Amino acid sequence: MIKLKNADEINWIRESGILLANTLKEVRKLITEGITTRELDQFAHNYIISHGGKPAFLGYFDYPASLCISINNEVIHGIPGKRKLRQGDIVGIDLGVILKGYYSDASFSQGIGNISEKRKRLLKVTEECLYRAIDQSLAGNRLRKISEAIYSHAKSNGYDVVRKFCGHGTGFELHEDPQVFNYINSGPNPRLKPGMVLAIEPMVNEGTFDVNILDDGWTVVTADGKDSAHFEHTIVILEHGCEILTKGF
Ligand code: MF3
Ligand code: CO
Repeated sequence: MIKLKNADEINWIRESGILLANTLKEVRKLITEGITTRELDQFAHNYIISHGGKPAFLGYFDYPASLCISINNEVIHGIPGKRKLRQGDIVGIDLGVILKGYYSDASFSQGIGNISEKRKRLLKVTEECLYRAIDQSLAGNRLRKISEAIYSHAKSNGYDVVRKFCGHGTGFELHEDPQVFNYINSGPNPRLKPGMVLAIEPMVNEGTFDVNILDDGWTVVTADGKDSAHFEHTIVILEHGCEILTKGF
């Protein structure tokens, strides 16, 4: 069941999204060659707690960190640790925040230092997929318009999209209905309504859509070893248009 949010609830999710965006903005400043993914995670954890929030991923199905940090062929759910970021890598950083019980969820991917043109193009197209999906996030549109926007842009650029994981409703919990697929399927296709809060998150693979999960039980990697990128925003459908609740990082 899709739970619509009223104006007060949207205000709280917006506050949660602001804390999330501020955290990611600070994390971005720390991203340099040689920093470990654990250092980024510890910074984010402390920043969120000291601003009155809670990391939404920590403890979720026993996930052991605040950030998910996924490098190169890693798609999502990379666990921070002693690995250092290296020149030429592309890194995806995903964060969920709880503030006063309200959830927001967002991520970005970026290069470390000089990256190849091939990697630049993957990042650019994946981010475009997110914004094209947001452009379709209009009351009255069917949910599948979002999926189509992502899928068609990725495919027309020679990429594929991950099928095993998808975007989702959010706000009262980390994951709520509906599932927001990045490809076109025959699942439920409700009309978008004012008050729907969605986390839209294209995961775009340079090669095929197929993924595996590593022995750590979390890290999702491309099956063919090629690169993957991920961008995510939490948005709310309004009467006219939509608002990005996690803007500013
Ligand atoms: N942003 C991801 C999602 O929306 C990560 C959550 S998985 C977690 O599904 F377990 F790490 F929390
Ligand atoms: Co999400």
